[in-house]
Amino acid sequence: MPVNIGGQPEHGYDQPLGLLSDCHRRIERFLGVLTRIADEAGGGILSEDQSRALAVALRYFREAAPRHTADEEESLFPRMRAAGNSEAIADLEGDHLRAAALHAEVEEIFRQLSAEKVARLREALAELNGIYTGHIQVEDNFVFPLAGRTLDRETQLAIGREMASRRGVHIR
Ligand SMILES: [Fe+2]
Ligand SMILES: [Fe+2]
Repeated sequence: MPVNIGGQPEHGYDQPLGLLSDCHRRIERFLGVLTRIADEAGGGILSEDQSRALAVALRYFREAAPRHTADEEESLFPRMRAAGNSEAIADLEGDHLRAAALHAEVEEIFRQLSAEKVARLREALAELNGIYTGHIQVEDNFVFPLAGRTLDRETQLAIGREMASRRGVHIR
């Protein structure tokens, strides 16, 4: 089973669409951490607790979140296109690109945080919150249910196997 941080039961690799939504809950949680710290860090100086929480959240977006993007762009979306559902996912890769650029900027600012940079940091995080809110809502409520209806079980299991191997987990 994947690591369970939030206490909610997680889906297994045999339920890849549910697992993708579980990742969204982590994205929301860690984005909330970044946003809270940016809101609290008026003078650009962080407490030990803030620094620790920040390091975990930044690492999540640097290491784990790109795998979620790859799960969608390399495993799910190509199969949805093949099933004739290109239109449903048309805007999503653009969001991924913009979010990745903003995450890189946010990490850069946090690494050399100063009072002058806090305003830009909050602005970038506000944009990220806006992107994710719409993006996750479309994926959770429209794209994943559509995939669930249009991709057969074998195809969904193949997506799950790719997601597992992306994380170094071997399943049959
Ligand atoms: Fe996405
Ligand atoms: Fe997603």
